[in-house]
Formats: sequence, C-alpha cells, structure tokens
Amino acid sequence: MYPQNRNRRLRTKTALRNLVRESSISPHDFIAPLFVVEGTSVKEEIVSMPGYYRLSLDYIKKEVKQLYSMGVQAVLLFVKVSDSLKDNLGTEALNKEGLMQRAIKEIKNNIPEIVIMTDIALDPYSKYGHDGVVKNKQILNDETNLILSEMALSHSICGADIVAPSDMMDGRVLAIRNALEKNGHVNTGIMSYGAKYASSFYGPFRDALDSNPGFGDKKTYQMDFHNRKEALNEINADINEGADIIMIKPGLSYLDIVREVKNSINIPLAVYQVSGEYSMLKAAAKLEWINHDEVMMEQLISIKRAGANMIASYFAKDVIKLIS
Ligand code: PBG
Repeated sequence: MYPQNRNRRLRTKTALRNLVRESSISPHDFIAPLFVVEGTSVKEEIVSMPGYYRLSLDYIKKEVKQLYSMGVQAVLLFVKVSDSLKDNLGTEALNKEGLMQRAIKEIKNNIPEIVIMTDIALDPYSKYGHDGVVKNKQILNDETNLILSEMALSHSICGADIVAPSDMMDGRVLAIRNALEKNGHVNTGIMSYGAKYASSFYGPFRDALDSNPGFGDKKTYQMDFHNRKEALNEINADINEGADIIMIKPGLSYLDIVREVKNSINIPLAVYQVSGEYSMLKAAAKLEWINHDEVMMEQLISIKRAGANMIASYFAKDVIKLIS
C-alpha cells in the first residue's frame, strides 16, 4: 500500500529496470521463414514485404549460413512453385527432386547444425491455391491427410528436422506421426499450427508464393477469429495426436490465445508473427509515422511476454542486428 509501496522505485534508472525485467529476446528465440524459388542468383524482393526476398538455392545457402552465424537456430521453408507444376492433388509436393526437397538437402549438407523446419500444406502446389484436395468446391479432409503424410515423410527423408503442418485438416498430426513412425523416422518432430485462424494478415505471404485461393476462402478449415475456446480444443487434439511443438498464428492480434494456451499446455509454444504484421510495420515506418525499431521490439517482446517460447518472424535479422 502507498506510501510503503511505490511502484516507481524500481524504475528510477536503466540498470535497475534491466535488473527487474521479466521478458527478453535473444537470437535463439527466432525461427526465420524463407521463401525459395527456382534458378540461380535469384533474389527477388516481395513487393508487399519490403526488405524480404524470394531466394534461389545458392542464395538460400548463404542466407542460412548468415542466419546461423547470427545465432538463429531454425529456418522454416516455403517454396514458390511455377503454375505449370500445380494440380489438384499437389503431386509436385511429393517429387523427390522437387524444390523443397532440394532446398532441405542443400541446407542439410551445408549447415547441418541448424534446425530445418518445413511447411506441410498443399497450397503452394495446388492449382486452386487451397491447402487440401478440392472436390465440388469442398476441401477434402482425409484424402488430404494421406498426401500430407507422404509429403512430411519425403521432407524427413531429405533431412528435415521438424515438419510443420499449416493446413488445419483434422487428424493430420496423427496421420503424419504414423507415417514417420512406420518408416523409422522416429526423431522427426512435428510443429503443428494448432490454432491457425482464417486471417487477412496472410495477404503478403500469398503474394510471395503466388498462392491466393482461386475460389472462396479458407474459412472451412482455418479457425474463425471470433473464437477462443475452440483454440484449446484444436490444440489438445494436436497434442494427443503427437505434436511436439504447438504454433499459434497470427501473432499480435491473438496474444490472448497465446496466454490462454500457454497456461494450459506443457509443450513448447511457437507464435508466427505473420506477413501482414511485417508489412504494416514496414509501411508505417516508411511513412515515418512510427519508429520502426522501437515498435518492432515492443511487438516482439509482447509476443514473448504473452508466453511464446519461440517466434517465427520476418524481423529475425532486423532484431538481432539491433540487439547485438
Ligand atoms: C499456407 C500458409 C500460409 C501462411 C503460412 N503457411 C498462408 C495461408 O494459410 O493462406 C501464412 C504466413 C504469413 O502470412 O506470413 N498453408
């Protein structure tokens, strides 16, 4: 009670504030998403994600070396596939010499220490831009799971350490875990996008991969953003099916979910600060309406404070440069 207790006492100087600080951020907290394209010496800036690029394999190798030397422990791979390779079943996703498979091997051969995470979903390979197989404008659940589990095994064979299903089909974690176990890939982990909301914050990412849904939206599989308790059901199901890490996505608008989930689960929790969050900050900073670095730190610390053990973020390099 005042005046015995004065909350300002511990704020009187920087060193004291540092001493009582509850949250911090370090390079080890980050997962760096990477966009891979075909070709050599390709470094294309993504129009709606200024300062972020699609990279060909030679540049990916350099980028991952640099990230690892900066202290980043994990990369999350996405590929941009040419339209001519897209179909309804995502056949190209299972190509042993596909771009994803080559990217995994390239990184595994050159920077074996880093954790390689790969996106598991059909959208980059789907001619409809949907995460699953389409029939009569419906996204089929169980048929999709079969393909996703083969896709995950294919990535694991190439050297992926963790596969990250982002599709939101029911039962896909179990299908993937079974396929990995049956084939002896017992140590390949699953980071499940347990609570992934149908969000307009993904817009710039879909530009990056040219993966906009050709019809409709993703609301029959991704979660309704009006819901909170449903996230716990989704996540409990994934944990029961064998998820090793749970991810929540997007980040900033969903920190209530992050804290709620953090309080109820005992496995590591990841948060994906998604493309739209990156783009909004870059745009406002370019207009000099907000301070880029300060707002970036505030947002990332908010995510940590909410309970994230790790953050997938396009700001990984920006932040590490700032704090080191
Ligand atoms: C695809 C996928 C998406 C993102 C990650 N994996 C887009 C989507 O679901 O439409 C979004 C990431 C971002 O916006 O940064 N399954």
